[in-house]
Amino acid sequence: MKFFIDTANLDEIRQARELGVLDGVTTNPSLMAREGIAGKNAIMGHYARIAEMVPGDVSAEVIATDLEGMLREAHELAEIAPNIVVKIPMIAEGLRAIKQLTAEGIKTNCTLVFSPGQALLAAKAGATYVSPFIGRLDDIATDGMQLIADIRLIYDNYGYPTQILAASIRHTMHIIESARIGADVVTTPLKPLLNLLHHPLTDRGLEKFLADYKRLNG
Ligand code: E4P
Repeated sequence: MKFFIDTANLDEIRQARELGVLDGVTTNPSLMAREGIAGKNAIMGHYARIAEMVPGDVSAEVIATDLEGMLREAHELAEIAPNIVVKIPMIAEGLRAIKQLTAEGIKTNCTLVFSPGQALLAAKAGATYVSPFIGRLDDIATDGMQLIADIRLIYDNYGYPTQILAASIRHTMHIIESARIGADVVTTPLKPLLNLLHHPLTDRGLEKFLADYKRLNG
């Protein structure tokens, strides 16, 4: 399973990278806004910095919602670095953009996916990644994990190569359940990723090992 971090914050990316388990980064316009990144040059520059920091794929989202605009932005984003993946929303024009970009050899991440039908369309258009948003489904009292399971089943039925990128992660159990179901990638904020490290028995066990060592060795 690949681990991506879902942030545009350089310090958080650095922290995740230092753990040695980071495979890539996803961003979205809200995450960029949270960092105060505004204006085309600043946005492109920020993506370039992120793409330099990680060897794996970095998702950068288009703002346009018409086909021509999405393709123009996609080409500009793909020019930034070879590991940039263009994030395209799940709308009709987005589907057409994904199909064309795939034919051109540009990697895509179909975002804002909330149903198995949308995921099926993304795979048929040839998206590199599909991003089902688990947490936002849970927020409206729908089972986000079931969506990951449904997409896994459908993709396996037909051998679609589109990678399932479990997104909108809120806590460690979303990560664990995604791994159990077989999502290819999980993109998570830093906190749930760090929380995977912790177990009270690990802390207690280590404390005892060190205390026993110290008792005899000073
Ligand atoms: C996915 O790529 C999105 O950036 C992200 O996971 C959305 O998460 P949120 O629902 O916490 O905003």
